[in-house]
Amino acid sequence: MFVNSAIFMDSRGQFGTAEGGPSRHENGRAMPRKLDECRRLQKRAEQLIPGGVSSPVRAFKAVECDAPFIVRGQGSHIWDADGNEYIDYVGSWGPLILGHAEPNVVEAILSAAVNGTSFGASTPAEADLAELVIEAFPTLQKVRFVSSGTEATMSAIRLARAYTKRKYVIKFEGCYHGHADSLLVKAGSGVATLGIPGSAGVLEEVSQFTIALPFNDTEVLEQAFSKYRHMIACVIVEPVVGNMGCVPAEGDYLANLRTITQREKTVLIFDEVMTGFRVAYGGAQELYGIKPDLTTLGKIIGGGLPVGAYGGRSEIMDLVAPLGPMYQAGTLSGNPIAVTAGRATLGVLKNSSIYNDLEERSAEFAAGVRAAAEKHNVSIAFNRVGSMWTLFFTDAPVVDFESANRSNREKFARFFHLMLGEGVYLPPSQMEAAFFSAAHAKKDILQLIERVDRVLKKIAWEFEKSARGKKRRLPTRSADSGVLDRCTALEHYFAFCWFF
Ligand SMILES: Cc1ncc(COP(=O)(O)O)c(C=O)c1O
Repeated sequence: MFVNSAIFMDSRGQFGTAEGGPSRHENGRAMPRKLDECRRLQKRAEQLIPGGVSSPVRAFKAVECDAPFIVRGQGSHIWDADGNEYIDYVGSWGPLILGHAEPNVVEAILSAAVNGTSFGASTPAEADLAELVIEAFPTLQKVRFVSSGTEATMSAIRLARAYTKRKYVIKFEGCYHGHADSLLVKAGSGVATLGIPGSAGVLEEVSQFTIALPFNDTEVLEQAFSKYRHMIACVIVEPVVGNMGCVPAEGDYLANLRTITQREKTVLIFDEVMTGFRVAYGGAQELYGIKPDLTTLGKIIGGGLPVGAYGGRSEIMDLVAPLGPMYQAGTLSGNPIAVTAGRATLGVLKNSSIYNDLEERSAEFAAGVRAAAEKHNVSIAFNRVGSMWTLFFTDAPVVDFESANRSNREKFARFFHLMLGEGVYLPPSQMEAAFFSAAHAKKDILQLIERVDRVLKKIAWEFEKSARGKKRRLPTRSADSGVLDRCTALEHYFAFCWFF
């Protein structure tokens, strides 16, 4: 699927082509990453857009690094405005399970666009996508399309409150459900923490009805229910958390969530914006066999275009206007091009061997990473569910926000820099999940393992060296430390070349 010829912009902003693209490796050595054009574009964008970005994490602040301006994607590869080529493991933060510019999806988008881009009226493609979604998720009898995951979760919570006539919402520390006011609650510590605003501009009057609890802890959940009995409208959860890095639910946790919410007549919302059509065709609820009351979707169902959705039993969904009193609307909701891209994507995924292939390749990668970490004596926790994964730099299992937060961010930033120098584009934060797509060939995975191995070796050496450097104040050095020092200087010289 990968086409080996790059299109990139030159320093005057002109598009050009380069046969084979700019090689990241020559004679086995990583080559310098050119950045002039990306830096120029960043400066320009910063004059016009806050931070130069349309979504904060794109600014690469957590890894203090120049963010590439992407001009093209094909299969598993992307190219930036300076012509640098990367293997992409971000996949637009999840939607691109088929890779970039997948021919069926591109063809569907083009043929929809020639018939008009938006009508603000119903189209046949909307119901086609609804049919596919409902078929994949048996807990959905009806589904409403919106334009983002944020809109989906915000609407699902409004609906849960309308249905139960209760005020409180339980969410879990480290879970992200978009940027609606009531869900931007800063993760607090302790049992049944009452939310405080996690963003300037969010009123305490709004966030006071959000209860943030530690993930994977059934006991605190019971305590919250006994404290707020008959007041909790819904529990919203990422059934596999992707937003504190990849953190799966442990053992019976999801089953307990279901049992407790059913007993308390509280709506259970599975936020499957990330996991829907990702960890299985029918999402995490298919994988774990749990039936939530409402489900939110996004990312993959838009095939790379803006689509979100929420759905559930008719009994609840029929409260949505125009049938019921819960109001929710959108000028571009169910946009014909976006739902057509989603329909094409699900069409490729349905009844395909893609999920088996992804599982096989992801498992191979997991084994390779763990072996490399062991070989180089680097402490890591590698979490994975299907093609969603995160490599945490920590020596303890990562099961919740607290343990994810104990990861070594400095090591992660170094890992990220070195991987970027190797031509590998990862999420620029320890607290995000990376993704494999159907476009990642076995060759990509083997290459990735090789590069992770090389980078972990380097990290082990650098961090051990710096730890030893700190001890060096004591004047006992062996003869070979001079050799190590000279190597470090050389390494730093090469690192300098790669990044600048
Ligand atoms: C689980 C989950 N829910 C909701 C959202 C919000 O979706 P969007 O960014 O489309 O508003 C995200 C975004 O990453 C997400 O991962």
